[in-house]
Amino acid sequence: MFDYDVLIIGAGLAGMRAALSAHQRGADVAVMSKVHPVRSHSNAAQGGVNAALTDRGDQWEEHAFDTVKGSDYLGDQDAIEVMCREAGQEIISLEHMGVIFNRDESGRLGTRAFGGQRQARTFFVADFTGQAMLHVLYEQIMKAGVHVYDEWFVTSLIIEDGECAGAVAMEIRSGKLHVIRAKAVIIAAGGLGRVYEPSTNALICTGDGISLAYRVGAPLMDMEMVQYHPTTLKGSGVLITEGARGEGAYLLNAKGERFMERYAPNMMELASRDVVSRSEQTELNEGRGIDGCVLLDCRHLGEKVIKERLLQIMEIAADFADIDIMKQPIPIRPGMHYQMGGIKTDVNGATPIPGLYAAGECACVSVHGGNRLGANSLLDTVIFGRRSGEAAAERAHQVSHRNVVDSYSLRDEETIKSLLSREGNGDSVAHIRLEMGKAMDQHLGVFRNSEGMETALNQIEQLKERYRKVPVQDKGKVFNTDLIFALELGFMLDCAEAIVVSALERKESRGAQSRLDYPKRDDANWLKHTLLTKTDGGHKIGYLPVVFTQWPPTERKY
Ligand code: FUM
Repeated sequence: MFDYDVLIIGAGLAGMRAALSAHQRGADVAVMSKVHPVRSHSNAAQGGVNAALTDRGDQWEEHAFDTVKGSDYLGDQDAIEVMCREAGQEIISLEHMGVIFNRDESGRLGTRAFGGQRQARTFFVADFTGQAMLHVLYEQIMKAGVHVYDEWFVTSLIIEDGECAGAVAMEIRSGKLHVIRAKAVIIAAGGLGRVYEPSTNALICTGDGISLAYRVGAPLMDMEMVQYHPTTLKGSGVLITEGARGEGAYLLNAKGERFMERYAPNMMELASRDVVSRSEQTELNEGRGIDGCVLLDCRHLGEKVIKERLLQIMEIAADFADIDIMKQPIPIRPGMHYQMGGIKTDVNGATPIPGLYAAGECACVSVHGGNRLGANSLLDTVIFGRRSGEAAAERAHQVSHRNVVDSYSLRDEETIKSLLSREGNGDSVAHIRLEMGKAMDQHLGVFRNSEGMETALNQIEQLKERYRKVPVQDKGKVFNTDLIFALELGFMLDCAEAIVVSALERKESRGAQSRLDYPKRDDANWLKHTLLTKTDGGHKIGYLPVVFTQWPPTERKY
């Protein structure tokens, strides 16, 4: 058994920012991740991180209003105020830690425009901002001496007397299960993108943290709010950054029209993501696409801008679609990118279960509501990562370890034994995962209706049934990735079900939830969060009011 004050599950930006702040508050901290920290999905974040700096003539209140409007008034305004107020200082701290943000001509930190915002307030490192931040934070936690367990896979959380007291985890190298006792646990395990197929998310984004929390009774909030990014590459679905549109790239349909004129005449390609994705999908549905795609044209940006600021997408387009973005427009379509919902927390990352915290994409504070603004995700990870680290350290100073024993791992050992004991029946984890992903993309994508969602729900139920019998081919202990994929699939099926159930429940269109059978936003009945809690027999749905501070809901136009 291992003992720590604070155990952090996940080593992306939220996890490492939490580790650093908990360590700075005097806690003994361990970070555990199924991959090496710098292979976390934060690595894939391209376009930048938002902050309103007053010396640029911007105000945090302006950023907060853009975020509230972007959320389609479902974001909690107290949490949004916290995030936007603290953003500037966090950017400066990251810069002081060593993140080499791009500069403007005068040598000051430079910004680019991003969607749904009336000011260019996105700080960036070319088109690999997440990677730059991730490496700097990893250096910081190494310097601080934080214990890092990479290639460890958390199988369950330990709840003792209603409080979170640690976790059970498998060392992937040996296959051995261990009990980790902690006074506070922070889940920072990222999103669930791979519940959909395709997705911009890394293959590791399997909703582990969301499911771990759900299984011990933590409520999930607004799970229906799944973001489709407007520019994902034809075929593979790899992200093509919104930064391209921020730099001036535009969208064309098969007739060569800048179709956004019809949908968002003021902000055009830089309207909020839900609006741009719906516009593209409408063009496609009405026959103005090319082979299932519309086009993102970067040609006029010129070699200097592309090579200095959009180098990664130039390489991605060449490697994955054989496109030279200096000479050809890029075929793109809306694709699954981000989960706005997640484990319900307060602004300090606390869940309703004492000792259990969450931060980053797996958490729902809620600052994104029905639709996240581009570049508010990196901001969310560092602001609420830091705050949850501080709160967890504070708790660790106040409470003692619970009476946790090694035998806590026995239940998970039994689960694994039973998975390994199954004989081949012609089915496979990969098949179930693919069918789930396609059903989610088909029925829970940009546009939804009850018939499609009911179909998806039935499919998920059948896939869960098949999952109960699916064999794991590799029976060994050492680096058994077959077993890991099977455990991940269990988490993903929980998440898929939570999304469908919540989406069926919300009988309106708001933000990313666009229902053809309920096409209007319905503030009278649905200006509230959905809350899904696991029960012995299944799950129950509840609601929470949205928190308003200064911005009453109005019609949303771009
Ligand atoms: O388009 C992008 O660079 C993605 C950014 C984000 O999701 O925040």
